[in-house]
Parts: sequence; C-alpha cells; structure tokens
Amino acid sequence: MNGEFKMSIKVQMQGAVMTLAFDRPDKKNAITAAMYAALADALEQAGADASVRAVLIHGSQTAFTAGNDLQDFLSNPPQGEASPVFRFLHNISVFTKPLLAAVNGPAVGIGTTLLLHCDLVYAGESARFATPFSQLGLCPEAASSLLLPAVAGYHRAAAMLLFGEAIGPLQAREMGFVNEVLPDDKTIAHALERAQALARLPASSMRVTKRLLKQGQQQAIAQQMQAEGEEFRAMLGSPEAREAFSAFLEKRKPDFSRFG
Ligand code: COA
Repeated sequence: MNGEFKMSIKVQMQGAVMTLAFDRPDKKNAITAAMYAALADALEQAGADASVRAVLIHGSQTAFTAGNDLQDFLSNPPQGEASPVFRFLHNISVFTKPLLAAVNGPAVGIGTTLLLHCDLVYAGESARFATPFSQLGLCPEAASSLLLPAVAGYHRAAAMLLFGEAIGPLQAREMGFVNEVLPDDKTIAHALERAQALARLPASSMRVTKRLLKQGQQQAIAQQMQAEGEEFRAMLGSPEAREAFSAFLEKRKPDFSRFG
C-alpha cells in the first residue's frame, strides 16, 4: 500500500497509521468523484485491516482542499447515495478507529465539514475554513447542519453556514472543531505523532471510547445526511448553482439578482 497513488489521493502506511493525503496541488487539492471513491475505498480498507490502528487525513503544507471540484460537479453531478461523495461521507461518519486531520491553507466546503467527523483536528496558522454553500446556491452537507451547531452553538454555526465566509484557525479552535493551532511546518508531523500515540494504545479502548462518544448522535447524523443530500442534489441542478459554478470557472463574480 506504501506510496500508492490513487487518482490524486496518496495512501501510505506510516507504522500503524494510514495516511490519506490530498495530492492535486495544481487545483488546490479540489476533490473529484475519483478521489472520493479512492478515499471511500481506503477508509473501508483501513476499517477492515487490523494492522491499521488510526487514520490521518492531510493536504500539503499550503492547502488542505478547495472542496468539491466544481468542474467535475458540473459535468458529472452525484446522482444518489451510491455516488462516490456520499459513499465517502457515509464511511467517514461510521468509521470506528481514531480519525485525525491536519489542515494548512484552505479547507473549503467538504474540506471543513469532513473535519466534524474527525476525532482530532490540528490546524496550521495559514488554515482557512469556509463553508460557502450559500455563495454557490447550495446547502450544507456532511451533516454539518447538525454537527456544527452541536460543536459551536447555533448562532456561530448559522453565521458560518449562511454567510459562507472563511475563518482562521484561532476562531475555528474557539468554535470547537480544532484541537490545536501550530506553525504550518509542524502541523502534519504533529498530527502524525498524535495518531501514532493513539495507535500504541489498546485498539479495543479506542473502538469502545469512540463508539460511546458517537453513539448518541449516530442515527441523527445518518438522517440529517440523507435529508441534506436530497436538498443538495436538487440544488446542484438549480440556475443559482449553475450561475455560481460558471462564475467561478470564468473567474467573475456571480450575479444572483435575477433569481427569486
Ligand atoms: N474546483 C475546481 N477547481 C478549483 C477549485 C474547485 N473547488 N478550487 C480551486 N480550483 C482551481 C482554480 O480554478 C485554479 O485553476 P487554474 O489554475 O486552472 O485557473 C487553481 O485551482 C488554483 O486556484 P486559485 O483560485 O487560483 O487559488 P487561490 O489560492 O487564489 O484560492 C481557494 C484558493 C481555495 C480559496 C479558491 O480556489 C476557491 O475559492 N476555490 C473554490 C472553493 C469552492 O467553492 N469549493 C466548493 C465548495 S462546495
């Protein structure tokens, strides 16, 4: 598995820790359907393989991920719950081993919402978290409309999800979804060290503790993800989303004034 490239997701074993690295620097690690499929497969593999004791998701020293690849979404929109993006979201939400993330630079859309499913999140000083769903004519996904208010409180979650403006690492830590803020050149190494520390502890304790932490919310998360998914898929075909996506790709500001 070491060093294997799967469509811009680099999957490696570092001791007992599986690292999943976004590796598409020319597009700020924007995630295509093929990359979601690779992530979903890797999580399934990690869950089934006893030699994997923890998983760390990270990007580069300058970019975590710009979120969904907007070009890919336009030309190849996810059709249903079997689509790679929803398979990834399901797998990340039910993953039973410690799941960590290290974030530098932009973490946009799903780049931020996936963090709500991680157990520990480490951010570099350059980290910028944004959920610009409204700016794209879309709505929240990944159960973020449930999980963000749960960690940050209703009003802070509403501000983040309605405005879609980016926040920095200190604000994200204050909101409750970042554990520690570090210099950019230390983030990934520190997160890996923390993952390896968890990997040395009894796997049974990790499993049971995580189950106990999460079980109260599990059913609600699945229901919210399904409800969000239905809205999201419908909104992807809306004229507002098409205008927003085209504007991004044409490098202009979107104009929503003609839509009611
Ligand atoms: N989908 C497709 N391509 C993307 C992308 C995305 N989500 N994000 C960035 N890219 C591409 C850009 O089009 C650009 O491509 P080009 O060099 O061929 O023109 C390249 O990646 C670099 O992006 P750029 O915008 O020049 O980098 P930046 O450092 O100025 O800004 C971001 C980085 C992430 C803040 C900015 O790219 C951005 O806002 N991206 C869109 C994020 C988004 O809306 N994601 C969807 C959430 S649901």
